[in-house]
Amino acid sequence: MTLLTIDGLQMYYRSEAGYVRAADDITLELERGQTLGLVGESGSGKTTIARSIIRLLPDNAEVVDGSIDFDGTDITELTDRELRNQIRWQEVSMIPQNAMNGFDPVYTVGQQIVQVIRHHEDGVSKADAKDRAKTLFDELGIDPDRVDDYPHQFSGGMAQRAMIALALCLEPRLILADEPTTALDVVIQDRILDTIKEMQAEYDSAMILITHDISVVSETSDRIAVCYGGRIVEQADAATIIKNPRHPYTLGLRNAFPDIGDSDEELISIPGTPPELVDPGEGCRFAPRCPFAEEECWDVTPEPEEYDDGHIVECHRADEADELRSLAEKRETWMDTDEATPTPAQGGDD
Ligand SMILES: Nc1ncnc2c1ncn2[C@@H]1O[C@H](COP(=O)(O)OP(=O)(O)OP(=O)(O)O)[C@@H](O)[C@H]1O
Ligand SMILES: [Mg+2]
Repeated sequence: MTLLTIDGLQMYYRSEAGYVRAADDITLELERGQTLGLVGESGSGKTTIARSIIRLLPDNAEVVDGSIDFDGTDITELTDRELRNQIRWQEVSMIPQNAMNGFDPVYTVGQQIVQVIRHHEDGVSKADAKDRAKTLFDELGIDPDRVDDYPHQFSGGMAQRAMIALALCLEPRLILADEPTTALDVVIQDRILDTIKEMQAEYDSAMILITHDISVVSETSDRIAVCYGGRIVEQADAATIIKNPRHPYTLGLRNAFPDIGDSDEELISIPGTPPELVDPGEGCRFAPRCPFAEEECWDVTPEPEEYDDGHIVECHRADEADELRSLAEKRETWMDTDEATPTPAQGGDD
């Protein structure tokens, strides 16, 4: 059964230059208990999408259009108070990108977990709530007595794990995990991710797992959505995204994280920089970096097209995916792209 449906969400930031179209026409679905991996490079809008769901957004953020249906309630229509009392932490919780910022420096970490538990559950004593915090600490590999510490007494890795405790203490139905292990030592990254997955299974929670590393979501997600320039350019079940992607950006991402394919594949990065999100104009936002861009790609914004079951792609050339996929494995293909020049004819003085 569907737990979350985001339909045509446009979440923009007001800025002096105009609207920053950080989440532009986002459409997504998430089933109960499932994991959706949200991947894409820095600035593609991943955090914006997650923060829109739990409405932890800066003052200049504005929902311009669209809806976010959580189990039958359009949460864009709720007041801040309703959202705080009915949804945030209890139904939907977030492990933020930078855990330190998630805690209030003037309270101990334990006090903050106790507060969240007691605010949302009637009749729980302080002592019982604190015991629950300690149990969670233990499960996450932190000495339970550290609940009495202040956030600044924690290392980055411990703060991240404590944030996971806070996010999971009410057994939410949806966990938004925004790069939950990026700040941690590589050795413990896998362990923490495993712990999150175990707890997710225990509580039967759904999860949106955000990362820039497609190999992380390939192992942990049921579905994967690929973000580029404020849009979801491709989404499908995880196996399809890894084995049969159709969007050139996804093909490029696979090359940049070669360990998801054959181990002898070489690392090829996508040249160029992400697009301007103020007045991005018409055309595909990836066209300036796409080795396969044709005239139409520069002029006409591609509409989402559904291929086999739930595989949705925004690319004019998605039909030619088989051919493009083999070309994309070659380094020369990516060397030809030139951000500044729509046609390769310019600047050729060899
Ligand atoms: N408060 C803000 N005001 C204006 N623009 C913002 C604001 N916050 C984010 N942006 C812009 O919105 C776009 C999307 O940002 P977002 O943080 O959602 O990306 P992200 O995919 O999470 O990136 P990262 O991988 O670096 O965390 C970026 O262009 C960013 O500069
Ligand atoms: Mg982010």
